[in-house]
Amino acid sequence: MHTWLHFMILLALLYGTNAYKYLVVSPIPGKSHAILGSAMVTHLANAGHEVTYVTVILPEKPIPRVTVVDLSDNLKYFPADGAMNLKAIMDNTHEGNSLLAFVPMTINMSRNTLEHPNLQKLIRDKNQKFDAVITEWLFHEVFTGFAAVFDCPLIWFSTVQPHWMVVRLVDEIPNPAYTVDILSDNVPPLTFKQRVEELCFQTMGRLLQTFWVSGLEENIYNEFFVPAIRDRHNTVPSFETLRYNVSLILSNSHVSMGGPARLPANIIPIGGYHISSTVKPLPEDLQKLMDNAKHGVIYFSMGSNLRSKQFPEKVKAELLQMFGKFKQTVIWKFEENLPNRPNNVHIVQWAPQQSILEHKNCILFITHGGLLSITESIHFGVPTIGIPVFADQFVNVARAVKNGYAQKVDLSYSMAADIEKAIKEFLHNPKYTTRVKELSQIYHDRPIPPEKELVHWVDHVVRTQGAPHLRSPAFMVPWYQKLYLDFILVLLVIVLVLKYVLKFIKSLILAKRKEKIN
Ligand SMILES: *[C@@H]1O[C@H](CO)[C@@H](O)[C@H](O)[C@H]1NC(C)=O
Repeated sequence: MHTWLHFMILLALLYGTNAYKYLVVSPIPGKSHAILGSAMVTHLANAGHEVTYVTVILPEKPIPRVTVVDLSDNLKYFPADGAMNLKAIMDNTHEGNSLLAFVPMTINMSRNTLEHPNLQKLIRDKNQKFDAVITEWLFHEVFTGFAAVFDCPLIWFSTVQPHWMVVRLVDEIPNPAYTVDILSDNVPPLTFKQRVEELCFQTMGRLLQTFWVSGLEENIYNEFFVPAIRDRHNTVPSFETLRYNVSLILSNSHVSMGGPARLPANIIPIGGYHISSTVKPLPEDLQKLMDNAKHGVIYFSMGSNLRSKQFPEKVKAELLQMFGKFKQTVIWKFEENLPNRPNNVHIVQWAPQQSILEHKNCILFITHGGLLSITESIHFGVPTIGIPVFADQFVNVARAVKNGYAQKVDLSYSMAADIEKAIKEFLHNPKYTTRVKELSQIYHDRPIPPEKELVHWVDHVVRTQGAPHLRSPAFMVPWYQKLYLDFILVLLVIVLVLKYVLKFIKSLILAKRKEKIN
């Protein structure tokens, strides 16, 4: 009886009093985004909360206390062969890595998300209530509308390292002299040319946001959110107000992977939260293969979005031949089986990446430089060769190179020869491994694990009614006050007044003197 009572009290404490309802909106059709999304809802649910999860890629199995809003039929809008074609990028026929390409893509995604009947049902359901909404940021802020519909605090989730476009939502834009754009591959300290590049690039970005993206966002807000807000509330806030009414930003980053950025109090780095503390054991065949690799294992994967089979035939053949020259065992994550494979090269269609990287014989990771792969390489302390392809991969790889544990190889027709050179350099220079172990130590040396931090800060927002105490004061000061233009104006007025007063006194004195002389 006694134990039962204790148990019930414990349950009530765990799930009863502090249980909240969260809405997590992560409708990006990329595998890595889905990994981050489902890890987030799992941590929140494990802490006893009820979570509603809007996604196009469903979790592998149902998660207790998580209700999925299934948008999986929206996958039809995306090419089955991956959004990025490797060969097109190598042949320079791809649209390129710029806001001009990303914004229309992500704005369309948000439209497809919001017009989906399952999502419409959610926002039109007047009985539906949430304590906070967490939504993924990807080049636009349309999803702030959810906070207005459910009248609850808004938390952004940024899947990349902090950059001006998200910082601006909660604080002033950081100085481009030492903070780079997310699509750039400059790493501070910047040279004169790079500083000018960052200034131009970020100013252009700001102009595009103001004169182009804002209009697109506002259209979608008016079309999909405003009717739902009107249904529930008397007033409809303007989109501009909502955009900056942010309680918190969860940032999938850590200082060990990027650099020390100056962050406002409400940007919380939680990089690494998707890696479980106990990694699953390897399948038997891979375990045996890796255990027996006397000279170590090189693991090669271009991530989950890119299809290695889109490599041109010639490059594939050269890569195989090149890997064949080494004594190391090569595990290549590849979607098709390749003919004429050397004995040391093993193709896996699906790779348990974390388990492979955790194995003590894994000595090198050849990667596209996606942030999850970069995080995992630091988590498990494996040096890398980075072949960036799109989005933040360039800046991730550039930082990894600057941090001293990676080499960069360009995606090109000569990449087999370039990778060979990089592997050789790596095999006879231990500095990359030494450095990655140092960074791994920095990464792990935190007061609490990132998944605990995630849950804590999300709960904190609810417990403190939107955490207004975390808002940066800089954010509420108009630009002319930041530049002290008002003060300069006051000084000018004082100087002018003084000048006239002096002139007046002088003329009085002169008049007096004249009187005396006469
Ligand atoms: C801004 O957010 C706070 C905290 O969630 C909320 O109380 C307030 O109503 C919001 N303001 C607007 C205009 O939506």
